[in-house]
Amino acid sequence: MASDKAARRARFEAVFDVIRDELVEYCKKEGLPDEALEWYRKSLDYNVPGGKLNRGISVVDTVEILKGRPLTDEEYLNAAVLGWCVELLQAYFLVADDIMDASITRRSQPCWYLAPAPAVSAPSTPVAPSTTPAAIAKDQPVSITASGYRHPSVGMIAINDSFMLASAIYHLLKIHFRPQPCYVDLLELFHDITYKTEMGQLVDLVTASEGVVDLARFSLERHRTIVVYKTAFYSFHLPVALAMRMCNIPDSYTVQLPDGSKTLKPYDIALSILIPLGEYFQVQDDFLDYAAPPEILGKIGTDIVDNKCSWCVNTVMGLCTPEQRAILDRNYGRKGDIEAGAEGADSEEKKAHGQDGEAGGLCEKRVKELYEAVGLRKVYAEYEANMYKRLNELIDSIPEEGVIVDEKGQKVETHQGMK
Ligand code: FPP
Ligand code: MG
Repeated sequence: MASDKAARRARFEAVFDVIRDELVEYCKKEGLPDEALEWYRKSLDYNVPGGKLNRGISVVDTVEILKGRPLTDEEYLNAAVLGWCVELLQAYFLVADDIMDASITRRSQPCWYLAPAPAVSAPSTPVAPSTTPAAIAKDQPVSITASGYRHPSVGMIAINDSFMLASAIYHLLKIHFRPQPCYVDLLELFHDITYKTEMGQLVDLVTASEGVVDLARFSLERHRTIVVYKTAFYSFHLPVALAMRMCNIPDSYTVQLPDGSKTLKPYDIALSILIPLGEYFQVQDDFLDYAAPPEILGKIGTDIVDNKCSWCVNTVMGLCTPEQRAILDRNYGRKGDIEAGAEGADSEEKKAHGQDGEAGGLCEKRVKELYEAVGLRKVYAEYEANMYKRLNELIDSIPEEGVIVDEKGQKVETHQGMK
């Protein structure tokens, strides 16, 4: 079972080399200099393939389920290209999101904008061993390497790199899908879902606006809007909808239950499961941002310092006493050690903790202590158990068998195993 999963991943990963070479080759044909080609190749290698690949591989899995048989080599390549387009979209979002969130690490390596710039030859000034990536980030444009040397960092070229990750999607769709009937539907899906994700990011950012910490603006309802738009659509709905489009399932199809009691639309059925699934995934991401050690998570959580409307803070707000709420109000969303409206931490504690004003200061520590005091870990475990049950019930409510009818009500096929 495990080796089957590893083999599926390896087969999918092999397609990345094909698409990366196609993309770099296209830039070469456009006459870009070697320096730019090398930069683009590094950006693709650094940002696209290193994640869990769940989104990309689920396109391939869904196409296989819909076809009900092993895919031909050509079908596999097409499905994998679509999968890598989702991974490119994810890379585009993450490179940009890490700049917006001032994050430090991603997938156990420096965020791209902090990474050593490609094609830089001469190492220069050694940096003090105590210099942290956060301090380096303030002194753009340099980055720190494992050997302790300052290098020019990618810096704000990362903004253009993120755009080129996104443009790559449309180039690949054109090369691989232009003659196919699903081409316009695929284009439309990528455009629509990108727009929705940007809407979610906007709500996330304005709710967490820098310098204005007002927890009264937070609510679980606001949180839901953020996570559905910024995560669920692109991470869960998009891979399945792309696979359905690739298999040319038309919008006009409806599925009648065997007893004729109900008609359902295939794209609506998919949405009704995948959006709650995505919501659950982002709640888990929020919880791990606070609860998981960076070496497990592959990134340093920034939600508390960044004043994010996370599931954690919203849940704690509903559980805490007025005194605890006051602690939250003073410490949430603060970058350093000085509490709002207070003279700050006692000097011994500050000395022990350092006063460099970076993420991980005393304010964040106080918030985390509060989360422990109200028993957030237990509440999360209950949320997870309930959500697991609810998602299974939703999946079980989809009939095993249904009749697919076209827009004229004509039976197209009897579909077994719609789950
Ligand atoms: C990560 O959430 C956020 C996203 C994946 C969505 C990001 C969307 C954009 C950056 C919009 C792109 C628009 C342009 C113009 C580039 P998170 O910060 O909660 O997750 P994290 O903990 O993994 O950082
Ligand atoms: Mg982020």
